[in-house]
Amino acid sequence: MRLRDKRVFITGAGGGIGRASAIKCAAEGAAVICADISVPAAERTAETLREAGARALAVTADLTDADACATAFAQGAAAWGGIDVIFNNAGVCLAEDAGPVETDLTVWDRTIAANLTSVFLCCKAGIPHLTRAGGGVIINNASIVALVGSAFAQIAYTAAKGGVLAMTREIAIMYARQNIRAVAICPGPVATPLVKAFLADEAAWLLRRKYLPMGRLGQPEEIANLVAFLASDEASYITGAAYPIDGGLTSAYVIDDSQ
Ligand SMILES: NC(=O)c1ccc[n+]([C@@H]2O[C@H](COP(=O)([O-])OP(=O)(O)OC[C@H]3O[C@@H](n4cnc5c(N)ncnc54)[C@H](O)[C@@H]3O)[C@@H](O)[C@H]2O)c1
Repeated sequence: MRLRDKRVFITGAGGGIGRASAIKCAAEGAAVICADISVPAAERTAETLREAGARALAVTADLTDADACATAFAQGAAAWGGIDVIFNNAGVCLAEDAGPVETDLTVWDRTIAANLTSVFLCCKAGIPHLTRAGGGVIINNASIVALVGSAFAQIAYTAAKGGVLAMTREIAIMYARQNIRAVAICPGPVATPLVKAFLADEAAWLLRRKYLPMGRLGQPEEIANLVAFLASDEASYITGAAYPIDGGLTSAYVIDDSQ
């Protein structure tokens, strides 16, 4: 129970990596605030946690909105008497997001808002709660595209995730002496609704598989294990770091795809 006494605020907790992380953090003893834009999804996750005997609160917010963010954090802090950990995980990946020439400004704006501005707003609203708690942890969900480029571009998503990574480092340095750690995780492709939509056909999957040394997608639970570790005091000397969790993808130069 390495998160006993921790109060963990998770964005995008209604699905995929956020939901798996909420389940894992709760299993490790945390009280969890499950934030999502979708009311039923946030409620479903919170209900799953409560059924397992954990303390869980669902809050609904569009985290691209500053007031909604502030309200969500205030609700979470009021429920559990404070917040110790923020997992900024909510994000979107739009099908219309492509190269810089092809991508509409509206697609760019929506993608930046959901993936980058939301992280900024959650830090803005959330850091004062961590400070009040005497310190805490911010875990930002970036992506391998913050580390390596892809010829099959999603330019707005990539730019947003690069921004998340840079922002994580800056926050880590700013708050290092105030007992607040900030860490980025950089997942490769993970089997969630977000990715399954892109890899729906066999050709798209085989193309991606070619670049995956392990030859498989990650599972949301594998990401959740890293999140729980980084949130815990076992990670007490880790700040400003970026963790690839990608089945070897960002370490690969040439892959033997015959196996
Ligand atoms: N799945 C992958 O392969 C992968 C890889 C690298 C990074 N990521 C990142 O992991 C995070 C989670 O991805 P996932 O695959 O679990 O996605 P998902 O679509 O399964 O879940 C994302 C959740 O975020 C919520 N959300 C979206 N916009 C929101 C907003 N404005 N306010 C509040 N909630 C909002 C959605 O309702 C959803 O429940 C994203 O930031 C994504 O970019 C995913």
